[in-house]
Amino acid sequence: MAQGIGYGKTILFGEHFVVYGLPAIGAALSQRAIVDVEPAPETTFSTEIPGTIPEYTSRAISFVKNAMKVKDHFTITLTGDLPTVGGLGSSAAFSVALVRAFATYYKRSLSNEQVNELAFEGEKAFHGTPSGIDNTLSTFGGVLEFKRGKTPRENEFSPITLHEPLHVVIGMTGRSSPTKQMVENVRKFKEQDEIYFQNLMDEALEIISHSRKALSTNDLPEIGRLMNQNQELLREIGISSDLNEKIISSMLSAGAMGAKVTGGGGGGCCIALAKDLNHSGKILKKINDVGFSGLHTKIGLGHLK
Ligand code: PMV
Repeated sequence: MAQGIGYGKTILFGEHFVVYGLPAIGAALSQRAIVDVEPAPETTFSTEIPGTIPEYTSRAISFVKNAMKVKDHFTITLTGDLPTVGGLGSSAAFSVALVRAFATYYKRSLSNEQVNELAFEGEKAFHGTPSGIDNTLSTFGGVLEFKRGKTPRENEFSPITLHEPLHVVIGMTGRSSPTKQMVENVRKFKEQDEIYFQNLMDEALEIISHSRKALSTNDLPEIGRLMNQNQELLREIGISSDLNEKIISSMLSAGAMGAKVTGGGGGGCCIALAKDLNHSGKILKKINDVGFSGLHTKIGLGHLK
């Protein structure tokens, strides 16, 4: 029996545009996926976490096994406190946790870079051509600026040190839209008007540049303003659904400094920035009152080991 873990994530700035080479900023969540592997006559998967799609999970298991040259069979169990809902990186967290569980079982000492590279193979089972931001955050943790390279090995990322941890609220729409499909929709949108899309990319880049400074100086009003601005771009490219808008407006009506879709969108999750712990509780209550579940958490607690 061996165990591995992978952290969930939230994207603060730059989802979707990251696919086209812009930097994005994301943070690991303290919520995590835990995978246990135990030798068995055949490979099986089980979890009590709702929302897991067995077809994708088995594909991810075989992609990871191939990449790690694992021939044995295992009973694979997923537990942990990371909900399987679009936008929180649960698929990447599963792949990272699985890689780490196999590495522990076979007593292979893998660097984080190796874990990340192997987990990316599992991510492909869920996302087709992911940028790699999810598995990178799930592996390394902390707050990172990520830039996709021409090949996964050329991806660049660097930690961002926050002045102090940020209190955020995640709101879940309860509607799952495959990230793969949302990425494809954005690609079609881009192809309809390349010049317009380039203008949006320029605006996104400006937001990212300003957000670096705002994050490192703990300028909450500015971080919030930039999140709202980022959300306008996400609306433009068509990834903010009616449910996302409902959550975002309740978050803002509870005084959130800023609120936006986080991750693939079309449902999935939204993120709001709160002033402090007490305020994040109020925002969470507000979205619960209008019928959505969510969680409040702190991000930027440092690099995970
Ligand atoms: O896995 P999600 O739904 O949190 O989204 C990942 C972020 C995207 O930019 C939409 C896709 C990607 O591969 O970077």
